[in-house]
Amino acid sequence: MAQNKKPEELRSYSWFGPQTMWGFSHRSRMLQLGFQREDFIGKPVIAIVNTWSEINPCNAHLRERAEAVKQGVWQAGGFPVEIPAFSTAETYMKPTAMLYRNLLAMDTEEALRSLPIDGAVLMGGCDKTTPGLLMGAISMNLPAIYLPGGPMLRGNWNGKPLGSGTDVWKFWADRCAGEISDEDWRSAENGIARSPGFCMTMGTASTMTAISEALGMTLPGASSIPAADSNHVRLAKDTGRQIVEMVWQDRKPSDIFSPAAFRNAITVDMAIGGSTNAIVHLVAMARRCGIDLPLPLFDEISRHVPVLANIRPSGEFLMEDFYYAGGLRALMSQIRDLLQLDCRTVNGKTMGENLEGARVINSDVIRDRTKPLMESGGTAILYGSLAPDGAVIKTVAADRRFWQHTGPAVVFKDYRDMEARIDSEDLQMDENSVLVLQNAGPQGGPGMPEWGMLPIPQRLLKRGIRDMVRISDARMSGTAYGTCVLHVAPESYVGGPLALVRDGDMISLDIPNRKLDLLVPEAELAKRRAEWTRPAASDQRGYIALYRERVTQANEGCDFDFLSRAAKPAAGRS
Ligand code: FES
Repeated sequence: MAQNKKPEELRSYSWFGPQTMWGFSHRSRMLQLGFQREDFIGKPVIAIVNTWSEINPCNAHLRERAEAVKQGVWQAGGFPVEIPAFSTAETYMKPTAMLYRNLLAMDTEEALRSLPIDGAVLMGGCDKTTPGLLMGAISMNLPAIYLPGGPMLRGNWNGKPLGSGTDVWKFWADRCAGEISDEDWRSAENGIARSPGFCMTMGTASTMTAISEALGMTLPGASSIPAADSNHVRLAKDTGRQIVEMVWQDRKPSDIFSPAAFRNAITVDMAIGGSTNAIVHLVAMARRCGIDLPLPLFDEISRHVPVLANIRPSGEFLMEDFYYAGGLRALMSQIRDLLQLDCRTVNGKTMGENLEGARVINSDVIRDRTKPLMESGGTAILYGSLAPDGAVIKTVAADRRFWQHTGPAVVFKDYRDMEARIDSEDLQMDENSVLVLQNAGPQGGPGMPEWGMLPIPQRLLKRGIRDMVRISDARMSGTAYGTCVLHVAPESYVGGPLALVRDGDMISLDIPNRKLDLLVPEAELAKRRAEWTRPAASDQRGYIALYRERVTQANEGCDFDFLSRAAKPAAGRS
């Protein structure tokens, strides 16, 4: 392998090489760990940044997988060190793991900056772990490669496949309607999560790992391999070997994250019918690279990219099926003409070279261009008087009856208010009403929780109603579905127009024309604006206080304003 770097030029050498007091100290502590000098001096020191945690079942196998990465690093002549990173466990963190994505990004960046590290293998999978790790690696800009944890096996209930999240929402709606027995409820609970790995629908985790591959940050085919498959172990070893070569070649995130790579990522996001959360994460990652991704770019790309992945919640199958059907490489091979194939990837090859030989094995799961799940437009960006800085809707998961809809608002001032009143008999509403949730945005939530799929009131569920128009400044789980307008910006907590909506106001949603309007005269809105006051926040301490003060709006990626810019090149020890 041709090397662009000499051993003495390694960043870690400035810790371990010098015959100084500090060099003595640094070497002696590695000897204390039982290593020989030749193990680590002049060798690429590889951080395995691991979001394993016993309370994060999606990443439960990553401790074991780190050992496979280490084998690969040793085999290639590197020196592996495993570094635990903050694990944003999606299921358990309240109010939302999104509140801590930026904390993981800071954790990653600062660990890589402060320690004698030459390159990093980033190990994640559960929703926010992928963007958090990538954002930190972008800012530090040391050679880095992403190892996706892989989706879990498909769920099983009475012989039927069950999908993470998506089937939970469906089962819950059916249970609220009185259609699911206690026994069936318990039996589904037993069968929905059968192995380590992240949610196996096309939720945020599967979307973000696919995006990491489309950006060029993983080995080819990495994002589709199920966590429990032995191919995943081999992938981990290959990833360990690859990062050592990347260090010698000095192949850094800044060589991979280009405007064209982001276009590829958005294109793939649309073709897989990806989670709306991807928009926020992609904007945040791009801004850290100094690249602007305006929301209309997502809409522009969405309009000419067909949805080809027939995966729940938009389609029928699950990620395990997607893998057997050929995986992401097969899907990308179907849209080669829409991709920029000359983008560089972590293995030094172009995206086009990595797609050579890829083919679809099952065209029910990965549809042909002539038979897409949707011709175009998996996601739409809306603007209008209710969302001057934009809002997002996953059209592929919305009932077509509501694509053009005008209805009276039923307003909840926050999530607790919604929980308390949604099933109240006093609430004046029917299926044509528009449910509005305020104060669930980046600052208001805080953290923009996934509250955007407001529940359908039980009395409507019992009448067979399963979708309504819902509008909020919150996000929605990638596994969820429905006519849910999300990410309304500016958010209500900072006085955006969403804060001014009152019960009975007419709201117009027009997806074909990308419009979202509050049909209230401007004079009345000006009066309400003058009367508006910011809701009191009860939890103003520590990290949450910092978050509320410095987080940007949804259309800006919800990053911290002091991190949301391109970083300086990584230096050695100082
Ligand atoms: Fe971890 Fe869904 S809960 S990916």
